[in-house]
Amino acid sequence: MEHGEYSRPGKKRNTRCLAISVCAALLIVIVIALALGLSLSHRNEGFKATFIARCEGFHGKSKGYDCQKIWSAFEQAYVGQDPCKVPVEAYDPLIAAAPFEPACNRMMFWSKTQDFVHDFTEKKDCFVTLEDTLLGFTLDGLTWCGKEGSSETFTTGCPGWSQCEKNPVRSFWIRASDGFAASACGDVTAMLNGSIDTPFSPTSIFGSIEVKRFNSTTVKTLTVVLVTQESPTTNCTNASLKDLQKELDQGIKYTCKDVPESKINECSSRPDVPCGACW
Ligand SMILES: *[C@@H]1O[C@H](CO)[C@@H](O)[C@H](O)[C@H]1NC(C)=O
Ligand SMILES: *[C@@H]1O[C@H](CO)[C@@H](O)[C@H](O)[C@H]1NC(C)=O
Ligand SMILES: *[C@@H]1O[C@H](CO)[C@@H](O)[C@H](O)[C@H]1NC(C)=O
Ligand SMILES: *[C@@H]1O[C@H](CO)[C@@H](O)[C@H](O)[C@H]1NC(C)=O
Repeated sequence: MEHGEYSRPGKKRNTRCLAISVCAALLIVIVIALALGLSLSHRNEGFKATFIARCEGFHGKSKGYDCQKIWSAFEQAYVGQDPCKVPVEAYDPLIAAAPFEPACNRMMFWSKTQDFVHDFTEKKDCFVTLEDTLLGFTLDGLTWCGKEGSSETFTTGCPGWSQCEKNPVRSFWIRASDGFAASACGDVTAMLNGSIDTPFSPTSIFGSIEVKRFNSTTVKTLTVVLVTQESPTTNCTNASLKDLQKELDQGIKYTCKDVPESKINECSSRPDVPCGACW
């Protein structure tokens, strides 16, 4: 009995200890969950806030966009959806709410020259890339997705570009590129990379979406600016550029120019040089 009693408190102590550590563990889990939940909802709020702030801060030509309305049109594309089952068409209402305005003779496309081309359009205000439009500007560099049974926007745990095809971010950029290219008119320019083996890739967004969307009823010419370095890897005679020409709507006049990076850099740093003279 005594022995038993003696041993019991020990057991009791053990159970108490166990209870205390279980409680502590639970408490920690709850605290972490709360913190995570808070920071997550914070981040979600952050995403919408970023969207609205960028939308309202957009210095496009046309003012008077209803950014709250554009947010709603945006959100409906993916909220509550399986983040691997968001089709390109889900963004149709968004494009309708914030249509691309034709910027004839000023539209600039790019492939594998992202940083270079944006550096250029930032300094020289005569070309417009997708990322210089309201939607492109607002969503550039952002990640988002929804979740089945939730009305929230998530910014973490979203499927990557290659994880599944119909993810919200990829579908958006495909739909936006398609809409942007469909609005193209006049003389269109594309900056491609002369430092890589195959400057025109048929699987790139430029090759698979944009080039196919240029319509000869509105687009007169396509000028490819092949940006080269000191010792160019390739030039305008490259066979991949023949493939590009084959994809073009008949009636669009094609030209290609090999242009050294240094020439474009010099041009963009001099405000007195007109853009047309950069290549
Ligand atoms: C072309 O691609 C190479 C390799 O990815 C990169 O280092 C270079 O900056 C690109 N050139 C331009 C003009 O963007
Ligand atoms: C170009 O536009 C016309 C008229 O809108 C249309 O019928 C035609 O299919 C379009 N072509 C391409 C290549 O999209
Ligand atoms: C273009 O590149 C090819 C090889 O890729 C070379 O034979 C040709 O001379 C180059 N043309 C010019 C104008 O540099
Ligand atoms: C030019 O294009 C072809 C086919 O698109 C490619 O295989 C080739 O390696 C490219 N580059 C050069 C430098 O020849």
